[in-house]
Amino acid sequence: MAHYLMCRPTHFDVTYTINPWMDPARGADPARAVKQWEALRAVHLSLGHTVELIEPEPGLPDMVFAANGATVVDGRVYGARFVHPERAAEGPAYEAWFRAHGYAEVRSPREVNEGEGDLLTLDDVILAGTGFRTTLAAHREAEDFLGRPVLSLRLVDPRFYHLDTALFTLGGDNICYYPGAFATESLALLRERFPKAVEAAEADAVEFGLNAVCDGEHVVLTAAATDLARTLEAEGYQPVPVDLTELHKAGGGPKCCTLELRP
Ligand code: ARG
Repeated sequence: MAHYLMCRPTHFDVTYTINPWMDPARGADPARAVKQWEALRAVHLSLGHTVELIEPEPGLPDMVFAANGATVVDGRVYGARFVHPERAAEGPAYEAWFRAHGYAEVRSPREVNEGEGDLLTLDDVILAGTGFRTTLAAHREAEDFLGRPVLSLRLVDPRFYHLDTALFTLGGDNICYYPGAFATESLALLRERFPKAVEAAEADAVEFGLNAVCDGEHVVLTAAATDLARTLEAEGYQPVPVDLTELHKAGGGPKCCTLELRP
């Protein structure tokens, strides 16, 4: 059973552009986003997981993307520090939630990092993205504070600006990823370290098929990633499709909305 933190998209919208998916002229439909998000939350609950909620704040349309709010490993909370001023206030908002909910070890970060958007935790290693948001200095800070080795990976395609748009963990020691998102040397590292990894195609990656949440058995992923769902099924996982098309307009998917709380 996993523990998650989510943030209802009450104030969700697309009002600025900080990644290639966001178009303020098109905007988004917050009511529809809330419905899709409620369905995602219901899926997590139906799989036996617990979901805690943080109060959404007006003026922070991207706060629904809880995965960016922190990284929690062994009960330690490494806070987020956003690159873009539009999201800056989310860092302290998430930190305040952790302090108010009994987490004793909460670190306000010195370095720029966007939480689990770029820091993905496995049993023996944290995979860390850099190139667009989280810095290499933050990888070192996370390693020191969280006490788990960090493997840095360079992202090169602006459509996949956070590591969690291109890679997700399959239980504690395997991964699924889209190779085209990574620099050559990072791809070589992944192939060496994870010879049994599941690789996804670009068509599924652009639907945010890699922005998935796996509890070791089920994979909650966007319904549009049909080929990837079939591949995962053949590998012994149970795909659970969700529709988050409204949140895709801001450049997010199911994983972005789900921060894992590791006790
Ligand atoms: N609009 C948000 C941004 O560009 C989307 C964040 C998506 N979250 C994620 N974990 N990838 O920052």
